[in-house]
Amino acid sequence: MSRVAYVNGRYLPHRAASVHIDDRGYQFADGVYEVVAIVGGRFVDEAPHLDRLERSLKELRMTMPMTRRALESVIREVARRNRVRDGIVYLQMSRAVAPRDHPFPRNPKTQIVAWARNNKPPPASHTEDGVKAITMPDIRWGRCDIKSTALLPNVLAKQLAREAGAYEAWLVDENGNVTEGTSSNAWIITPKGELVTRSTDNAILSGITRLTVRELAKEEGLRLVERSFSLAEAKGAREAFVTSASSPVVPVTQIDNQVIGNGKPGSTTLKLRERYLRYMSEASTA
Ligand code: PDD
Repeated sequence: MSRVAYVNGRYLPHRAASVHIDDRGYQFADGVYEVVAIVGGRFVDEAPHLDRLERSLKELRMTMPMTRRALESVIREVARRNRVRDGIVYLQMSRAVAPRDHPFPRNPKTQIVAWARNNKPPPASHTEDGVKAITMPDIRWGRCDIKSTALLPNVLAKQLAREAGAYEAWLVDENGNVTEGTSSNAWIITPKGELVTRSTDNAILSGITRLTVRELAKEEGLRLVERSFSLAEAKGAREAFVTSASSPVVPVTQIDNQVIGNGKPGSTTLKLRERYLRYMSEASTA
């Protein structure tokens, strides 16, 4: 089946879907994006993802190119045309197509692209053995709360992770605290059994999966604390995991050369993962 993408009002064969060389997203990374998981053909946490998209646009003084309702139709149509059952939809908006010049162009017309694809199920080793994270200095800008397409530090860190045989790189700020992963939020469970994740500020993306897992953890009666934690504390944790729309509660069993807990995915992490997977299949919108 040939893939179809949405570009500024048109559904095009994926291989023919392109943006102009003067697109400011292409030239300046002057754009925002969202990734929404699709489970059983339904969107997981669609509304908060679209809320966050609108917030990112607002923070960058960009305008929504269409109504929210029209956007909801676009993501449904792109998922339908690509017959996506279990995968993701990707949405990107850039400020405008305009001759290259740093200031905003006059009357910018927000550009939009969307595509969707099925994803392979994650390898069983994720839950059987967990994954490894390496750590890197967090060299990103001061507005990581905005889901901007400007991801070069994330890309470089993820590449180093791959080269080290790791799944993720955890980014560490100048105070020695873990901010988040390159494309996921970071969590630990302390030896005293507290579930800890950094509170949201401009240093991290307020992950939608993070928000949902936070609620599910409360329902499960876990002791949740939102605060900074140091790399040293993470390495001494009983359990660790990451969350994102495409990596729902993935156990981390090694950070750099330090084995976490007994080196196997922790029971609380696995319980939260089960709970979240159940939520994904029950609470999504058609
Ligand atoms: N990444 N932090 C960063 C830096 C991210 O890029 C992401 C998501 C998250 C988790 O957010 P959420 O739970 O809303 O997916 C945290 C997406 C999946 C990506 O870039 O592909």
